[in-house]
Amino acid sequence: MTQTFRTDDWQSYCMDYQNPHRPLEPLEREIAVVDEALAALRDAGIVPHTNYDRDRMLAHRRAVQELFEIPWTAISPRMQRLIYALNAIAQPDNMIAAGIFCGFTFISNAGAAVGPGACYAADQLVGVEIQPQEAERAERNVRRIDPSGVARIVADDAIAFVSAFAEPIHLLYLDANEGGQKGKGIYLDILEAGYDRMPRGALTLAHNSINGADELGAYFDFVRDPARFPASMNVMLDPEGLEVSVK
Ligand SMILES: C[S@@+](CC[C@H](N)C(=O)[O-])C[C@H]1O[C@@H](n2cnc3c(N)ncnc32)[C@H](O)[C@@H]1O
Repeated sequence: MTQTFRTDDWQSYCMDYQNPHRPLEPLEREIAVVDEALAALRDAGIVPHTNYDRDRMLAHRRAVQELFEIPWTAISPRMQRLIYALNAIAQPDNMIAAGIFCGFTFISNAGAAVGPGACYAADQLVGVEIQPQEAERAERNVRRIDPSGVARIVADDAIAFVSAFAEPIHLLYLDANEGGQKGKGIYLDILEAGYDRMPRGALTLAHNSINGADELGAYFDFVRDPARFPASMNVMLDPEGLEVSVK
């Protein structure tokens, strides 16, 4: 079923890609917007509740700001909070993030289970990046926050990695963009590669559900088909957007 959550300022809430830590609004407003989005996701049956530890989220944010080398990112503070909260609520044993560039998107997910924002113990948190140099930088960044190795980066094609992953996938985060004609359309290939290992209740998060929508038609058809995903919502709280789907 197709559903939308939309703030009245999603178009004007614009970040500086080179300066991702710059606050864009009072913290209370950011928290309230994400709370509203989580409530909409709960009401749609996509998450069971909306509770997450706000102090841990800020500890996570501070550590990333201090320790990560981020050349640029399109993950806004609202989106960072939403992704962290979804992981803190769903508490996936196994999480795979596909197309993670410098690792910021990956740690926004994994930070709910490793580092100072950790609120549960995970089994495997894997970020997959096809460009070896970017994967190396992401791995360096992640090691600074998680010496344990539960969170790790793999230099690989996400389709191949997800296909070969033998364990259940409880949360799949999609952010890869294929360099050719397909672009963000590669999300569907990655999802199809892992769909049969996603148990009931597993979440799929797809970044760029707004500004990548032109390339995501077939992906939306797939996740908005109730036979495959009982509920899916386009969360529009910044100009990029996140499609959140529950299996
Ligand atoms: C645009 S970046 C994502 C950046 C992220 N949205 C952010 O704001 O930080 C997409 C990444 O996906 C990677 N990528 C493209 N195809 C991939 C594939 N098949 N498997 C894994 N990574 C891939 C690219 O190398 C690139 O680093």
